[in-house]
Amino acid sequence: MTTTPTHAPTTDQTTALTGSERLAELDLEQLRQLVGLVEYDASHDPFPVTGWDAVVWAVGNATQAAAYYENVYGMEVVAYSGPETGNRDHHAYVLQGGAVRFVLCGAVDPDSAVADHHRAHGDGVVDIALEVPDVDRCVEHARSQGATVLEEPHDVSDEHGTVRRAAIATYGDTRHTLVDRSRYTGPYLPGFVERRTTAVRQGAVFQALDHVVGNVELGHMDEWVDFYHRVMGFTNMAEFIGDDIATDYSALMSKVVASGNHRVKFPLNEPAIAKKKSQIDEYLEFYRGPGAQHLALATADILSAVDALRERGVEFLATPDSYYTDPELRARIGEVRVPIEELQRRGILVDRDEDGYLLQIFTKPVGDRPTVFFELIERHGSLGFGKGNFQALFEAIEREQAKRGNF
Ligand SMILES: [Fe+2]
Repeated sequence: MTTTPTHAPTTDQTTALTGSERLAELDLEQLRQLVGLVEYDASHDPFPVTGWDAVVWAVGNATQAAAYYENVYGMEVVAYSGPETGNRDHHAYVLQGGAVRFVLCGAVDPDSAVADHHRAHGDGVVDIALEVPDVDRCVEHARSQGATVLEEPHDVSDEHGTVRRAAIATYGDTRHTLVDRSRYTGPYLPGFVERRTTAVRQGAVFQALDHVVGNVELGHMDEWVDFYHRVMGFTNMAEFIGDDIATDYSALMSKVVASGNHRVKFPLNEPAIAKKKSQIDEYLEFYRGPGAQHLALATADILSAVDALRERGVEFLATPDSYYTDPELRARIGEVRVPIEELQRRGILVDRDEDGYLLQIFTKPVGDRPTVFFELIERHGSLGFGKGNFQALFEAIEREQAKRGNF
């Protein structure tokens, strides 16, 4: 901290821009606002993480899902692997939207592992891949902390260079592939070819990935928080939803862990005992175990993002009018960058803490099972995740119920 060796790079890789961020023409200041990126000293980090590499999905029909994310979410197909490129097992479409990279996999061979994953879990996230400056160092540390290494560090090469990668297991059937692409210039990974489609460009409605939430079984949240501390050197963020709030209202408990630079943030939920079945229990039942629950997409303009997505058929969770008209809530919302009526018209929620506020909204599940969904988030200083909305929303609903005499 006090002395800097002369051979040290002036900019640490973990606070430099990732390739995807450069492609999206984002700068560090924008990332500070969008996702709360912070500087930190990586020299003592046992598992330095640069940022997100990709979110890899197993879906029932990747060919159609690619068109959905292109036409609805404004992402762009940039690379492809499939039977035509020698991959007879599955299709994989790589899409880019802002700095966010999705890889959509759908089985071609009925015996593909992609088909097995889909049979068990429905459309879902297989891999939350992370970009790291030193794959070997991460795996060595993870192994020393008891992590399951699914793929040993190895090089994969083609005419565009070499990628070093490895993979460790996390909750359920989910994995973290660790990728060092510093010696690679291809469109995604060796085995993939560049691909563009004829779809009219819609324009991305988001710029970056803010957080990915994991749902785990009752009583296992602290185990996974500990996993991210020990194995991956993540630290806790302030937000904590305990059963004091959760039991009556939202029926979940939640803690948040983050990588040193806060690019990668993982809220971890477990169900809480409640009068009604918890939303987390429903997820665990239909996903057949722990998995990624929602992906929060950071946008600089949530209002136009919501308008565009609604126009293209995306359905969002409804917010009761009482959320906006209730004097208590109105006081809590305070002054934001637009009149409250603009938020109310779109059902956008507000949460506030000592650092600022955030605007957020949640979609309905994106697949056939009541499991994975998206959040759009526009941060204005707040580094929270919308904790205040858990209680506020449920209280607003209860006041509505009371008005109808049903409480
Ligand atoms: Fe969230």
